[in-house]
Amino acid sequence: MNHPLISASRILVIHGPNLNLLGRREPEIYGRTTLEEINRSLTELGARLGVGVETYQSNHEGAIVDRIQQAAGGCDGLIINAAAFTHTSVAIRDALAVLEAPVIEVHLSNIHRREPFRHTSMLAGVVTGQIIGLGPAGYLLALRALAEMVQPAVAVA
Ligand code: DQA
Repeated sequence: MNHPLISASRILVIHGPNLNLLGRREPEIYGRTTLEEINRSLTELGARLGVGVETYQSNHEGAIVDRIQQAAGGCDGLIINAAAFTHTSVAIRDALAVLEAPVIEVHLSNIHRREPFRHTSMLAGVVTGQIIGLGPAGYLLALRALAEMVQPAVAVA
């Protein structure tokens, strides 16, 4: 009798430039939670939901494009806060457009309440959905949404 291999769904989380400074970067806008704390809570929630979580941060546009390309076929869902590249990067948008897996765009701050140059997301037209302005909770909500999408039977208590 065959025993099919059951592998957990894999969710990749990509953080863009300057998000490595969370906790001390403009705390009045981004809060005091560090990137390490966000990543830890994502990994813990992933374990509870039965999905594997991998996190990646880069300050370099090309490195983010490379990581998205690597994810094609190798991940079941993607969470991305492309930070400043959100507003400028056709290259990241084009890389995301190739992915078949669902993609959720997250921003800690409400970009629509801020300077006009932040109101446009180059990524908005190619992502599955956006969660904006809810602080670190936005990443966890995105993970819950992806977990439901990739394995609908999962109980998201
Ligand atoms: C951000 C918003 C961007 O405009 C900004 O450049 C960031 C963070 C957010 O999470 O609120 O670096 O993506």
